[in-house]
Amino acid sequence: MYGRIIGSGAYLPARRLDNHELERMVDTSDEWIRARTGIVRRAIAAEGEYTSDLAEAAAREAIAASGVSLSQIDLIIVATTTPDLVFPSTATLVQHRLGIRGCPAFDIQAVCAGFIYALDVVDKYMRSGACRCALVIGAETFSRIVDWTDRTTCVLFGDGAGAMVIKSDDEPGILSTHVHADGAYKELLWVPVGVSTGNAEVEAGRAFTRMKGNEVFRWAVTAMSDIAVEALRHNGLSIEDLDWLVPHQANVRIIQAIGKRLRLPPEKVVVTVAEHGNTSAASVPLAFDTAVRDGRFKHGDLILLEGFGGGFTWGSALIRY
Ligand code: COA
Repeated sequence: MYGRIIGSGAYLPARRLDNHELERMVDTSDEWIRARTGIVRRAIAAEGEYTSDLAEAAAREAIAASGVSLSQIDLIIVATTTPDLVFPSTATLVQHRLGIRGCPAFDIQAVCAGFIYALDVVDKYMRSGACRCALVIGAETFSRIVDWTDRTTCVLFGDGAGAMVIKSDDEPGILSTHVHADGAYKELLWVPVGVSTGNAEVEAGRAFTRMKGNEVFRWAVTAMSDIAVEALRHNGLSIEDLDWLVPHQANVRIIQAIGKRLRLPPEKVVVTVAEHGNTSAASVPLAFDTAVRDGRFKHGDLILLEGFGGGFTWGSALIRY
């Protein structure tokens, strides 16, 4: 059995922070942000609005789109770097809110590649017959781990959630997943404190993202180009067979560079970074849902999803829609 995506959903917090507002917060400009990143605005969670709230809203939309009943869901995975609590997992919080009991529910932490890692796990559950209907969510309140005085990072990130309902089917669905990690690059993109290493810093609200943007940029382009080739080769397909690329939405220049390396026409690439910024684990399902809802994806389309994030972690999922 294979996993087939039968519904998707998304949620963005109501508040939008645009580049002009950022001009009043740090030494930056709308022109710089647009030219260097392609980002125009991003959504920011309200005070008291948590990752589980975003995840639940996206999940409910995906479930409604899929037509499945809540009782059919037998696996819940939330990809997030910004869980509500140290524990229990955001997945169990969402499970409870949805009134589902008993099925496995857990979080995956692979930063911006988290949703692809979640698809990889779901694919394995489906192929082994261990699950028949999975709810997979990427959700972040990334704004909570951004230093709003650091212009080199704060202009890049946003909050949001995207979700998919994936049902087992005798036809794919998910054709393949490939996930990778290399922990040698920890310090290029990280939050250098955590529960075990520096709780005082966390409690003081100084758990912020640090990044060497140039190096991350180069790595992201190479890794996301290489995994596209890896996924297509694995399935005996070529770039001409691909209908859509849904890459991680971090920077429009990264996305354009990948398209160029792959010789993929820009009109085949889904780009939502202008409106969302980088929403980490939520970015791929948010972009996917955008293209579903505006009618771009047609039944039978070949779609490649790609993620890249801190660690580094990276991966792809090739699907037949
Ligand atoms: N506004 C204005 N100027 C800024 C700025 C901002 N928000 N951020 C940085 N600058 C300045 C820098 O200080 C530097 O000034 P200097 O030349 O006087 O030293 C100049 O702009 C160029 O900085 P640089 O870092 O070389 O720019 P860049 O073209 O590499 O763009 C990023 C910076 C962060 C947009 C880019 O490197 C990037 O997107 N990297 C990948 C980030 C990413 O995707 N991370 C998540 C992956 S999951």
